[in-house]
Amino acid sequence: MPKSTDTEPRTGGAALERVVYSAGQIAERVAEMGAEITRDYPEGEPILALGLLKGSFIFMADLVREIARPVTLDFLVAASYGAGTVSSGQLRLLYDPEAQLEGKHVILVEDIVDSGTTMNRLIPMLEERRPRSLEICALLHKHVARDLVREPRWVGFDAPAEFLIGYGLDHSENFRNLPFIGSLKTPD
Ligand code: IMP
Ligand code: MG
Repeated sequence: MPKSTDTEPRTGGAALERVVYSAGQIAERVAEMGAEITRDYPEGEPILALGLLKGSFIFMADLVREIARPVTLDFLVAASYGAGTVSSGQLRLLYDPEAQLEGKHVILVEDIVDSGTTMNRLIPMLEERRPRSLEICALLHKHVARDLVREPRWVGFDAPAEFLIGYGLDHSENFRNLPFIGSLKTPD
């Protein structure tokens, strides 16, 4: 059984440039974020964590276990990228949450903010549903977006301007299962 730190069996060996955030660094930071979120909401008010699939699935799973409050969960599926690494600028909602947002503190859980297109389209749509509050929790923020309608309230890491994979992040649907975050040698 390969250890989770052995990269070759999971990447096929070739593409990884470097490990950017180790599994341990991620776990430590996610625990801090959960504690920050716990502090930031009053006790007794309903919190809905809304994960943006697929990229947020591992982050979401780890994060909600670090929030010491009652939390309900749902997911959104929005596709903004095709098979490559450049944003298409389009956002398609493939799954829309059935969960009621009205009256709830909604935390939109996102893997990475890059161009900001996804957030800029989603936030106004979700605001229309009259949540009690709506905040973004992003594991990674590249800080390249020029006109974000809303900055994430909680950010795990200020990410380098590289194409990142692992811990939920993909390149053409590959590498989501890496327990760390790495960068790709020659993305296309
Ligand atoms: P944005 O709309 O350009 O901000 O991009 C947001 C989405 O693009 C994220 O939720 C990711 O799914 C994807 N994305 C952006 N940058 C990366 C990256 O470096 N690696 C993998 N996926 C990325
Ligand atoms: Mg993606």
